[in-house]
Amino acid sequence: MPRVPLPIATDRLLLRSLRPGDEPEVHAYRSRADVVRYIPGEPRTLEQVADLVAERATAGRVEPESPIMTLAVEREGHVIGDVLIHLDGLDGHDGRQAEVGWVFHPAVSGQGYATEAAQALLRAAFEDLGVHRVWAQLEPDNTGSSRICERLGMRQEALFRNASWFKGRWTDLAIYALLEDEWRAGPGHFA
Ligand SMILES: CC(C)(COP(=O)(O)OP(=O)(O)OC[C@H]1O[C@@H](n2cnc3c(N)ncnc32)[C@H](O)[C@@H]1OP(=O)(O)O)[C@@H](O)C(=O)NCCC(=O)NCCS
Repeated sequence: MPRVPLPIATDRLLLRSLRPGDEPEVHAYRSRADVVRYIPGEPRTLEQVADLVAERATAGRVEPESPIMTLAVEREGHVIGDVLIHLDGLDGHDGRQAEVGWVFHPAVSGQGYATEAAQALLRAAFEDLGVHRVWAQLEPDNTGSSRICERLGMRQEALFRNASWFKGRWTDLAIYALLEDEWRAGPGHFA
């Protein structure tokens, strides 16, 4: 099964498996209503964060039974956010695609950390997991997230109107994507 060699070091960050002990720092952002506004679920309790940490401590492995890999994003020894890859097509040999996502503490916003982590995530998806296409879905109102996609060179492929019943209301849904050959040709690929 595909595996991402961890940790991944970027200029300012370390992406690594979630591990016991991360709960308080992950809870600090995942417990906030403003942080979960555009992502599934309610603000998490410490116990729910502990479940997430236990469930997602996958050491870089992505398997059919466990196709979601969540990585803690560490800056100067502290977890400031997490990023995820949901790999699809693990049963076939050539049919892999990956949905990506990101959640960060508002205290560190506006410094490019989420973009930097997401860029490393795309590299892992294309180079280590061998995916053909990376995509993201988001509410267009979530401009912080759409700007990350754009900085990564992802194209907006669709904008569905009132297509998603989310947290008690109909919302628009934008789809962004990047193909492997586009990534290799683009500024995100420095090999
Ligand atoms: C989505 C989310 C990660 C965006 O956070 P963010 O702080 O805007 O993103 P980044 O950390 O990449 O920072 C980008 C900003 O830093 C600026 N920046 C500063 N230094 C930078 C650098 N070295 N590199 C890149 N950008 C830099 C950019 O210009 C950008 O500013 P802008 O928003 O004015 O364009 C954050 O709002 C979040 O976690 N939200 C809650 C969860 C969520 O909604 N997730 C997405 C669901 S689809």
